[in-house]
Amino acid sequence: MCGIVGILGLHEVAPTLVEALRRLEYRGYDSAGIATLNDGRLDRRRAVGKLVNLSDLLVHEPLAGKAGIGHTRWATHGAPTLSNTHPHRAGPVAVVHNGIIENYRELRADLAAKGIAHETDTDTETVALLTRYHLEQGLSPVDAARRTLERLEGAYALLFLFDGEPDLMIAARKGSPLAVGHGAGEMFVGSDAIALAPMTDRVTYLEEGDIAVVTRDSLTITDADGAVVERPVKTIRLSNARIDKAGHKHFMAKEVAEQPAVIGDALGHYLSADGRDVVLPGTTLDFNRIERLTMVACGTAYYACLTAKYWFEQLAGLPVDVDIASEFRYREPPITPGTAALFVSQSGETADTLAALRYCRDKADTILSVVNVDESSIARESDLALPILAGPEIGVASTKGFTCQLTVLLLLAIKAAQVRGTMDEEAVADLLSHLRGLPAAISQALEMDEALQQAARHLSEHDHALFLGRGLMFPMALEGALKLKEISYIHAEAYASGELKHGPIALIDKKMPVVIMAPRDALFDKTVSNMQEVMARGGKVMLITDRAGAAVADEGTWHLLVMPEVDPVLTPLLYAIPAQLLAYHTAVAKGTDVDQPRNLAKSVTVE
Ligand code: AGP
Repeated sequence: MCGIVGILGLHEVAPTLVEALRRLEYRGYDSAGIATLNDGRLDRRRAVGKLVNLSDLLVHEPLAGKAGIGHTRWATHGAPTLSNTHPHRAGPVAVVHNGIIENYRELRADLAAKGIAHETDTDTETVALLTRYHLEQGLSPVDAARRTLERLEGAYALLFLFDGEPDLMIAARKGSPLAVGHGAGEMFVGSDAIALAPMTDRVTYLEEGDIAVVTRDSLTITDADGAVVERPVKTIRLSNARIDKAGHKHFMAKEVAEQPAVIGDALGHYLSADGRDVVLPGTTLDFNRIERLTMVACGTAYYACLTAKYWFEQLAGLPVDVDIASEFRYREPPITPGTAALFVSQSGETADTLAALRYCRDKADTILSVVNVDESSIARESDLALPILAGPEIGVASTKGFTCQLTVLLLLAIKAAQVRGTMDEEAVADLLSHLRGLPAAISQALEMDEALQQAARHLSEHDHALFLGRGLMFPMALEGALKLKEISYIHAEAYASGELKHGPIALIDKKMPVVIMAPRDALFDKTVSNMQEVMARGGKVMLITDRAGAAVADEGTWHLLVMPEVDPVLTPLLYAIPAQLLAYHTAVAKGTDVDQPRNLAKSVTVE
């Protein structure tokens, strides 16, 4: 999704704007631009493609000025052409925007009726034209922006700059996050705290419907009702140093490698000092009062929920529904008394997941969330937000975010089992002991990198792939297929192994590699049968199993990857590693943009 940034500074802002945009690259984009106020006059530089193109342009055509706004554009309306690149300008006003103005066609028609034409395909240009129109009606810049914002429907994070107003920036938030950073005689605004980290660690998060009038030494916020409000200034934990690749070729590789450490952090946060109990800090969550759990998410987070369904049902005997947020929010399912609604989101800003949370707001007994960004919208609108402590995840493909989500969800399921009496203290302590050993097992799995690279080289020569898994490995098969398709662009789909004969087996031939994820558990023998059905039809099987599984099922496999042995309950957390590394090395072999795959955004803040 788009990233926006604005600075009212004491020094030339162009380089700082570009650096802030670089820290927003992870959100995904296809063009970028900045506008500054130099001697009170607006001027722009914009470039299609990667940020380096904008930087090059600024070398040859520098932009002066101590106030400016910047934007990385993930195209929603109109192709990624130069004319569609933000900032958009109309006479004395320039704007940058993250979101979708849903009534822009109606606004365009109103403007056209006044003889005001558009030059671009974007909804954002409409905002600039409408603001200029209000200025021409004699309104002040602040009132012109307010009048424009009153007309907008949809989702937006917007920044406005005006000719002749070098100490004024207007920020508005509705449906897309926006944070104001406090400097010493300077002010900064950005889509998230990551963009602001090099400039300040003191941040005010705007709420839904807020409009902020910013000057270098003041911040005046009005809420959705137009009342002046105070929003707290928070100190963010983010350090500048954590947004780099730490010597890895890609952010994704770094984040895959960080998993033993960050899972250890999550365990340390939620386990009692003796490691025998789960402690949910500062919460009064009572699983005795929860009769049903509804989990809602998107993408990889949804697969984390599918995995957790097995845990909550098998360990705690708690009935669980799991839904894709974009379906849930429009199906509007009945929420029965005693239901807890749980939302999983790495970014905490996914539009569909946030909308699903708001649907449950006055229906569920309690709203829980499992998020990686403490101050995100989903966290702030939950009764209880549980942090996953993965640290900033920059790669578009979620890796450490996923396994840390799984860690927290498993701890929740164990807590539920303990409170509901389906697991006694010894059983809890025993499983937690195995869980504490998981980071070491993941470190061992990471050492399989060479074998996975070799398997990936072969996989990269194919156009399709099938992933199969049973039980806890079925959501892992779904996740493995998603990882592969989203970064290598190879078409991949996943099925529960038991579904093979109900259609997918028609796909099997020597051109269709089949990745089977199967530790030697209670369902393993059935999976071996599936393997043999695939191989009997010329299919090539890449088996990811453990030593016990390899001992009985290695014959005839195309590739055999042997994992460390862990308690069956923990296998999803471990088998995520080969799924991630297989996708990563396949993408590297294919030369795709691993950290910012085509068409994708890190946080989908629009529908
Ligand atoms: C995962 O690799 C994808 N990038 C995507 O499916 C992601 O998990 C999904 O968009 C949900 O994002 P969230 O966790 O920030 O809500």
